[in-house]
Amino acid sequence: TLSKTDMESRILVIKKKLGSKLFIPGHHYQKDEVIQFADATGDSLQLAQLSAANKEAEHIVFCGVHFMAETADMLTTDKQHVYLPDMRAGCSMADMADIYQTEQAWPFLQQLFGDTIIPLTYVNSTAAIKAFTGRHGGACVTSSNAKGIVKWAFNQKKRIFFLPDQHLGRNTAYDLGVPLENMAVWNPHTNILETDQSPENIQVILWKGHCSVHEGFTVQHTEMVRQAHPNMRIIVHPECSREVVAAADDAGSTKYIIDTINNAPSGSAWAIGTEMNLVNRIIKQHPDKQIISLNKNFCPCLTMNRIDLPHLLWSLESIEQGKPHNRIQVDAHTSVEAQSSLERMLAQG
Ligand code: 13P
Ligand code: SF4
Repeated sequence: TLSKTDMESRILVIKKKLGSKLFIPGHHYQKDEVIQFADATGDSLQLAQLSAANKEAEHIVFCGVHFMAETADMLTTDKQHVYLPDMRAGCSMADMADIYQTEQAWPFLQQLFGDTIIPLTYVNSTAAIKAFTGRHGGACVTSSNAKGIVKWAFNQKKRIFFLPDQHLGRNTAYDLGVPLENMAVWNPHTNILETDQSPENIQVILWKGHCSVHEGFTVQHTEMVRQAHPNMRIIVHPECSREVVAAADDAGSTKYIIDTINNAPSGSAWAIGTEMNLVNRIIKQHPDKQIISLNKNFCPCLTMNRIDLPHLLWSLESIEQGKPHNRIQVDAHTSVEAQSSLERMLAQG
């Protein structure tokens, strides 16, 4: 078995050999041992935009999770191949909405609301759901452009059907002035719309999905921080619940969190509610600031963490040897149907 240093030098050799034929995008939640080899780092929107803009790379080794690699595949040409260094790097939230459940929900919603709904899907979803969204005139969103796209959607139709993350949907609609009582939750297990309102008042239908990592941050954590560090500002990811976002000072995508801390004055104090690898990296990069995780036990995304040095090397070596492992390939039909929803996402900076 190779030592860490041996693996690192092998990766550098392969990267040098393949040059611009190889592109390694790395999501901000990736481990340091992986992110050091990324050609670009970013939030979901940036990585999708960069993959779409790259016309040179024949091999895209996506250091992130499965839905990101699928999205990159749908946004690149047939000659460009996308790989995921470990197939177990999924996303529990994306798994909470499957296409069969979605196809089942739609006629129920049509019956209740007629032609007044437009679907919006968080990029953290399967390619099949992105295709469903495209088919019905909707759009994909990320945590950094959700507000703009929800606004656009309300100009198209009276109601939005937001899936699979109820929290991002609720937080975004609330920020745009939709009262909480006008939001209903679609339960895909019972096929029941959870609300006590009459249908005409419903403006937002939220799929009952969530991120298990961001559920690890609670209002109790914000209260503990307020008590122990009265001057500390709390910033969280909008995948946290409405209560947590309301109790925090600010919320935004991983890029927004990074930019906010970068622009904060020296000596300022912050509690961050997002994935552990990113929080630890921010702590290391800002020794002049007091930074803690909002949950002192930290919250790792186990699937993001599946991508590690050995898997990255394994993937790169397989490309070098001309027998690449773990290609992520979305079928042409799905990809074509998803295009319009992805294009709207890319266009909304
Ligand atoms: P962003 O980096 O787009 O904020 O997304 C966070 C996330 O959960 C990715 O899975
Ligand atoms: Fe999915 Fe949550 Fe992990 Fe992001 S942090 S990849 S939403 S499980």
